[in-house]
Amino acid sequence: MAEILITRKVFREALDLLEKERHTTDINDTDRILPTRELIKRAGGKAGIICLLNDKIDASVMDELPSIKVISNIAVGYDNIDIAGATERGIMVTNTPGVLTETTADLAFALLVSAARKIPEADQYTRAGQFKNWQLMQEHMGVDIYGKTLGIVGMGAIGQAVARRAKKGFDMRIIYHSSSRNESAENELEAKYVAFDELLAVSDFISTHVPLTKKTEHMFSTREFKKMKHSAILINTARGPVVDEAALVEALKDGRIRGAALDVFEEEPAVHPELIKLRENVVLTPHIGSASIETRLRMATMAALNMVEALKGNRPPNLVNEAVIQRKNLSKGN
Ligand code: DGY
Repeated sequence: MAEILITRKVFREALDLLEKERHTTDINDTDRILPTRELIKRAGGKAGIICLLNDKIDASVMDELPSIKVISNIAVGYDNIDIAGATERGIMVTNTPGVLTETTADLAFALLVSAARKIPEADQYTRAGQFKNWQLMQEHMGVDIYGKTLGIVGMGAIGQAVARRAKKGFDMRIIYHSSSRNESAENELEAKYVAFDELLAVSDFISTHVPLTKKTEHMFSTREFKKMKHSAILINTARGPVVDEAALVEALKDGRIRGAALDVFEEEPAVHPELIKLRENVVLTPHIGSASIETRLRMATMAALNMVEALKGNRPPNLVNEAVIQRKNLSKGN
């Protein structure tokens, strides 16, 4: 039996899993992110935190929370948590991989189609009563998707799921660049591994699926936009800072690239004001990659189960920092 801070509203099913083990919870049931001071105050003396990707938990926060044993993130990405800092302090960090792969791939592909066929713009036009007449040379003409080249940057589970939709549904040619070769994608989808610059130069669509690290921050900036085709469309459902938004705005305004579809932003929830103004070649959604009812429920229950197992002293199913276990074993041996 332990006390847990839950930083935002979660599904009843997740709470049931915690209560079954007689854990007690303090839930922030407002829609606001807890400011750091408040998070520290409310997590003080508790054993665990269940948090979201917009709760920043760095070493200075951990230093003020010596009782915390587990941080369970309701997200597959965990760039909001200082993993090395947690490991040093013996705190287990868990995430929710797998369950959101297909849902996020659906959204990435929906964004690709929306940008290619200008769906949001056509929707606005129709609602505004501007659809008077069918024209051959009409406004809102998009570009074809079928048979084009899709460049996947980061061929992990989500990248591969997007590539599968592209290959099997739209007969696209798949090329990819990733930190390691993905043989399964190469065999199943005839995906071809290429150098990053080659991918930039030949892709009609580029979809990013890399985690946010020092290496991937601003992976797409002025240099990269200059190398892309003028007709290219960039889709980002990974993390906002992977794309340099100021450079993207310039590239879009100068016609360096055709368009962009973004679900994630550099300074969420803020969106670069110039992106908001670019209605004709930009599609924007508010970080909804995993936002289906089924998937969000699975993410929340998975995070609760990770917490339950870790608090029992077991290795939780989705432990991010394996090294924490080695540290614990070492200190037991000493
Ligand atoms: C994640 O889990 O990292 C996603 O960004 C949430 O949609």
